Amino acid sequence: MDKKLHCVKKDLFQRDIPAVLLVLLLLAVLLLNFLLYTYLNDFSVATGQPQVDSSLCPFGYFRLGPMKNCSPWLSCEAINTEVRKLKRVGEGAVKKVFLSEWKEKKVSLSQLTNSELKEDFLHGLKMLKSLQSKYVVKLLGYCEQKFTVLTEYHPLGSLKNLNEVLDLPKYKGVNTWHRRFRLAIDYVSTIHYLHNSPLGTLVMCDSNDLDKVLSQYLLTSDFHVVVNDLDALPLVNRSAGRLVKCGHRELQGEFVAPEQLWPYGEKVPFEDDLMPPYDEKTDIWKIPDVSNFFLGHVEGSDIVRFHLFDIHAACKKKNPAERPSAELVMNTYRNVLTLLRREGAIPGTREML
Ligand SMILES: Nc1ncnc2c1ncn2[C@@H]1O[C@H](COP(=O)(O)OP(=O)(O)OP(=O)(O)O)[C@@H](O)[C@H]1O
Ligand SMILES: *[C@@H]1O[C@H](CO)[C@@H](O)[C@H](O)[C@H]1NC(C)=O
Repeated sequence: MDKKLHCVKKDLFQRDIPAVLLVLLLLAVLLLNFLLYTYLNDFSVATGQPQVDSSLCPFGYFRLGPMKNCSPWLSCEAINTEVRKLKRVGEGAVKKVFLSEWKEKKVSLSQLTNSELKEDFLHGLKMLKSLQSKYVVKLLGYCEQKFTVLTEYHPLGSLKNLNEVLDLPKYKGVNTWHRRFRLAIDYVSTIHYLHNSPLGTLVMCDSNDLDKVLSQYLLTSDFHVVVNDLDALPLVNRSAGRLVKCGHRELQGEFVAPEQLWPYGEKVPFEDDLMPPYDEKTDIWKIPDVSNFFLGHVEGSDIVRFHLFDIHAACKKKNPAERPSAELVMNTYRNVLTLLRREGAIPGTREML
């Protein structure tokens, strides 16, 4: 990565500027950065962004919005008596989702719709409990007997709505390459978290097309990304040689990774038992397509795309082993963001920051 940064820098500066001038320039850039970061820090304090650490509660507890103390997860009884359904806001293959009210706060109540999918539902709940972190939607309670889960409500809904949300006049100021790129970084950070989770390497299997991927994530009101649907997260165990398969049916199309396609040609009918398993690199294959959606078509999007060209080409390597880890993609994205801010390479960047 350092090499790449170096190359880009070289392109941006004239090669024949005398060394002294270069040093002076560098110092000026450093000073400007220092001032910018100080300003940015002040800014995030002023807008009262939740500090990640202080919002964390011990296992089995949660804190919502302005709540001072951590509350234990709501039990069946508490959900029954204290939570009131308001309206349905979503429905997937597994559950119905209701905007609900608990102690004058908006919450999201999910209920199993298809009793054949009890296993998936309970797997999702188990994952939700184990993976509570800033990358995952906040769990507020559950009732296993009634197949009900209570989570934090995010009024902006799933990432499927991203373009519609950013097109609203009130979010005009947020519809920038910078904010969009930060969402892509958030997304890759959640993939990195799932690949290095406390439970091991988890593969985001509910991801056979772009819309499916987007519907698994929620957009928070402060424009971050959290994983919402953890129903299909099989575990890869490399030391035990255990790989995964996303479902039992044949997958098709260019969105899924090539190793997820039936390898024996049209003449051999698909058979689940003969389909070779694969690992978490399927998630890496999909990153460029998801990131492209995030970047959208605003001023500067294409400059970001240009800087991501190499890492995205690596994500699309046919051989999964040659694709980068989520960590490398995440760090590359972060470095590109730092670089683009620093160079002020994109018009309007200074006003935006
Ligand atoms: N906490 C929430 N806040 C706001 N909207 C939500 C919330 N949880 C879910 N939704 C909405 O409900 C939709 C369906 O939720 P979810 O993905 O959990 O259902 P599902 O049945 O598991 O879906 P799938 O068919 O992908 O498995 C989401 O895409 C989102 O639009
Ligand atoms: C992976 O498999 C090994 C050997 O079977 C086991 O000891 C280890 O706990 C497993 N790791 C995870 C994360 O499940």
